[in-house]
Amino acid sequence: MSAPQVLPPKPYLVVLEEDRKYFWCACGRSKKQPFCDGSHAGTGIEPQRFVAMRTEEVLLCGCKHTREPPFCDGAHNGLPGGCPHDDPDSPANRAIAWVTDSDGPRRWLDGGCHVICADLVEHERRGSLRHCRIVGPEFGAAHQAQFLLEAEGEITPAVSVGASDAILFVTCGSGEVVICGRRSPVKATDGVYLRTGEVLQLAPHSGETLKMFLLASPPAELEWPTRVPENFDDNYPQRVVAVDAAQRVAMGPRYFQLLVDKRIGSQMVTQFIGHIPQSKAAPHRHLYEETLIVLAGRGCMWTETRRTPVGPGEVIFLPRKQLHSLQATDSDGLFVVGVICPGDNPSINYYD
Ligand code: FES
Repeated sequence: MSAPQVLPPKPYLVVLEEDRKYFWCACGRSKKQPFCDGSHAGTGIEPQRFVAMRTEEVLLCGCKHTREPPFCDGAHNGLPGGCPHDDPDSPANRAIAWVTDSDGPRRWLDGGCHVICADLVEHERRGSLRHCRIVGPEFGAAHQAQFLLEAEGEITPAVSVGASDAILFVTCGSGEVVICGRRSPVKATDGVYLRTGEVLQLAPHSGETLKMFLLASPPAELEWPTRVPENFDDNYPQRVVAVDAAQRVAMGPRYFQLLVDKRIGSQMVTQFIGHIPQSKAAPHRHLYEETLIVLAGRGCMWTETRRTPVGPGEVIFLPRKQLHSLQATDSDGLFVVGVICPGDNPSINYYD
């Protein structure tokens, strides 16, 4: 059998029609990529037949190395040329305007992409919990609302996001998350998962401020139940995921580790922590909506006609399909935690 030909290592964005039959080219020789034109004859490689379950936009693999044919699974990032870089000092990039003026805590780029300085958002207080809303449909999000929570002193009042799932990330401090009365220890860089209808309390360790971002999907408001129901969902016992270097996945020169994802019950939302070395990736797009929180390092967020510096504590909101590039400018690179929704694989990107 011949080896598949590697085309430019990137996926193809196509619209599939429900119940229609397709033949995906597996050999890489078709002139009608990503579909078969019969050119595989004599190679020993057969096209993959599939029927679309629904009408939808998908990314079909173009590199022919996916482990989930016919769909792109990000394998192209590991191939030569699969993670192209961009020169931030090219004449075209130097002409891109800097955005330094804020609209309150927000700096707006193209297409609804924006950077939020969470510390500048006005906070409210409920008992020992300070909170503020930083992302939501009112700022262009379709799939999420995001909040910053800060607990100090005694255990906080109960909070929930109603019929939404919640995915949290601890940015500083240590203590316990109490989900429907069930206690789990947490520390900075842990991910936490709360299922629909469950109720959360934060119990910081003495003298510590426990600070975390909470993402609700679908978007929701914070609710303040007056009693804590005993409805912890025992079908999903693991609720805290810690950073583990052994779980890192390489993505070209970058790496990431999945935290809260479908393995522990989150079907629509995936949380990851990752590192970007000093570099600027070529501008690309995703089919999912994404929020990135800068944990350490400095960088620059680019869209088509605008760019803005980013640093620790800032949150980047990126609408689905928006062209962008996140450059790490520090020699140690940029550490980020991200959440994608809907989606389960943060390594899937596409280029024009
Ligand atoms: S293009 Fe082949 S895995 Fe993405």
